[in-house]
Amino acid sequence: MNASEMYQSRLKTVDECVKLLKSGDRLILGHAVGEPTTFTRRMAEMAKDLGLKDIEVNHLVYLGGGEYLDPSLGECFHNNSEFVGAPVRQAIKEKRADFTPCFFHEFPRMIREGYITPDVFACQCTPPDKFGYVNLGVSCDYALAAIEKASTVIMEVNDQMPVTYGSTFVHVSEVDAFFESSHPLPEIQPPKIGEVEKKIGKYVADLIPDGACIQLGIGALPDAILSFLGDKKDLGVHTEMISDGTIPLIESGVINGKKKQTFQGKIVSTFFMGTKKFYDFIDHNPAIQMMPVDYTNDPDIIAQNDNLISVNSCIQVDLMGQVCSEAIGERQISGIGGQLDFIRGANRSKGGKAILAMASTTKGISKIVPYLDHGAPVTTDRCDVDYIVTEYGVASLRGQTLRERARRLINIAHPDFRPELIKEWERRFNRTWEG
Ligand code: COA
Repeated sequence: MNASEMYQSRLKTVDECVKLLKSGDRLILGHAVGEPTTFTRRMAEMAKDLGLKDIEVNHLVYLGGGEYLDPSLGECFHNNSEFVGAPVRQAIKEKRADFTPCFFHEFPRMIREGYITPDVFACQCTPPDKFGYVNLGVSCDYALAAIEKASTVIMEVNDQMPVTYGSTFVHVSEVDAFFESSHPLPEIQPPKIGEVEKKIGKYVADLIPDGACIQLGIGALPDAILSFLGDKKDLGVHTEMISDGTIPLIESGVINGKKKQTFQGKIVSTFFMGTKKFYDFIDHNPAIQMMPVDYTNDPDIIAQNDNLISVNSCIQVDLMGQVCSEAIGERQISGIGGQLDFIRGANRSKGGKAILAMASTTKGISKIVPYLDHGAPVTTDRCDVDYIVTEYGVASLRGQTLRERARRLINIAHPDFRPELIKEWERRFNRTWEG
């Protein structure tokens, strides 16, 4: 049987694909924009009629409609995520969903070593090419590990999925069932850039030298920072994801990857989230190199590039420089993702810097605090933390004493909260404020 005949023989309807699920299965979904949304919607609609019970739905970033999370389907599905996206936050808040802490770069290993092995893996892909390969398009990350280990692999063949180059090609013989669909991919709109973002963007841009290799994390600020890099020269990209903000820099030649030590000239990433304009931009783009997340996010691989500057965001920083980036107190609202992967990689890179950028306040409360909120996990610990940037400046914390770290952090806190933080500093270090 040739590849084309094999594809035809495995082509089913979406309902036939849903019927491959069995009660008690663990279903791992394709990541972020790679989620098979037609499949997950039908699975929620059909679950009760099929008598499905106790299916663990596992994923990292999740952008879908969250139909399977409806409380009325509680017997059918149970969520376990390694990253809490907006649709899952309510289920987590109501204790209907679980969270498993995990470094993003270790997730493929968790799958391969049997910690979180899928019974079923379902994702989106492109139609097969003339050689019999479908393409994973926007999401490479853990898909190859999941395809290797899942008993059943289901793919939603969406002709609007872009083709990306790199480790994204999968032969049809590795997939058990396909169904075809045609719909636009979920879009993430670029962030709004206000005065605070402009000031932070300027401070971060000043920390990025010409020739640097950059990583930009998830959240509004990392993407906003790109708009301040237009005057730089010879930037490279080694990241876990990028979005629309990179397009002008690539088109103008600011990002050209000339100075990179790995994949020179290429933009290395493991997933993409953006607008349709961005998905069109990456389609068959020879500058793009998609790699599995156990490559892109391995701190030792990251560090092979000199001047690796990572830019991520966070929720709260205490006066020792301990950072929470994933929860508000006990309530998980996000995940560890690749934050520490890139902070460690940047810290090991020759000339590297690890930057955490955040507004000094949110909803009228300070994000720089004497102690992290009760129950808040430490995402980036005080030994790994490097630079914290707010709209009031830059605090370089590596190699600094606890007293000096606290002083530097207070100086970039919002002025309204400084008196209270200074009082804490004077109590903690038994001396008068040094300014
Ligand atoms: N106290 C209380 N609430 C807080 C808070 C704090 N200290 N900090 C943030 N929040 C709230 C915000 O007000 C916002 O609330 P809303 O949803 O009701 O508007 C919500 O938490 C999200 O904060 P925001 O700053 O808007 O998020 P963002 O989209 O810019 O993302 C992170 C910021 C930290 C959540 C995001 O960067 C992240 O998930 N990081 C961890 C993973 C990571 O860094 N990966 C890197 C590689 S991709």
